[in-house]
Amino acid sequence: MLLYASLGFLSLLCAGPALGDSGFAPLDGAPPSKIAVIGAGIGGTATAHFLRQHFGPEVRIDVFEKGEVGGRLATVTVNNQAYETGGSIIHSLNLHMQDFMKQLGLKYRKSVAGKMAVFNGKEFILEETDWYLLDLFRLWWRYGISFIRMQMWVEEIMEKFMRIYKYQAHGYAFSSVDELLNSLGGSGFLNMTRRSLSESLLELGVSQRFIDEVVAPIMWVNYGQNVSMPAFVGAVSLAGAQDNLWAVEGGNKLVCSGLLKLAKANLIQSQVTTISLQSS
Ligand SMILES: *[C@@H]1O[C@H](CO)[C@@H](O)[C@H](O)[C@H]1NC(C)=O
Ligand SMILES: *[C@@H]1O[C@H](CO)[C@@H](O)[C@H](O)[C@H]1NC(C)=O
Repeated sequence: MLLYASLGFLSLLCAGPALGDSGFAPLDGAPPSKIAVIGAGIGGTATAHFLRQHFGPEVRIDVFEKGEVGGRLATVTVNNQAYETGGSIIHSLNLHMQDFMKQLGLKYRKSVAGKMAVFNGKEFILEETDWYLLDLFRLWWRYGISFIRMQMWVEEIMEKFMRIYKYQAHGYAFSSVDELLNSLGGSGFLNMTRRSLSESLLELGVSQRFIDEVVAPIMWVNYGQNVSMPAFVGAVSLAGAQDNLWAVEGGNKLVCSGLLKLAKANLIQSQVTTISLQSS
């Protein structure tokens, strides 16, 4: 697929703790002896890793997985070539993933040269060239300052999103996703989960033409959805259309299997059907 070769399918802006529970340690402060993590995707394996760091070598960590380690970070092999089929690209602001690469000794995949183009079914309405300034000029000619408005909006959201690293460094935990989003971006972030991407962009002064011709294809390529998707995830998808993206040599899923080993977690290949609370 040549169109959007430089976009990839999905951005992994938010690989991080996916611990549903409210706090780390029980109220009396004693560390737990056993912890179960459900799912060995990037969320589950990163959680196992952070839990090991937090509680040290004594605690037993069981990771339950009914399918493949890696979850949405999956590959398919065609003609002896492995292709990413899920989370295929990682954003340069994902500091955890960069840190995991270092700790696991994984290699960055060489990027394949590719150009972006938008085809409307009849003709190419936009084609990337070798000249950055020419591309910028053509975007401006066709869409005015919509491109810059959108870009600034995405940058601002990512800047707020980066606060997540500070919270984590200070051992901060949240009891709900709403609380986490609110701490990162105030009511603005929460509102973005409740309104559509197109609505938010129009309000920002981005033109309908830009939404139809550039934003809509990006949503389609990254998430297989249209611009009615919530603005927050839409912004994540737009960040996944920038050119500072990377991937892991051998498959992004190697990060998950590597983290499981690093965390010395027990992988239990079975499906979790119920969870119950025990009082003792
Ligand atoms: C989010 O929505 C609420 C309710 O509509 C509104 O009061 C608030 O000002 C909005 N926040 C931002 C940052 O737009
Ligand atoms: C966008 O996708 C949603 C959910 O799949 C669907 O309900 C809606 O009709 C679509 N809108 C357009 C304009 O295609």
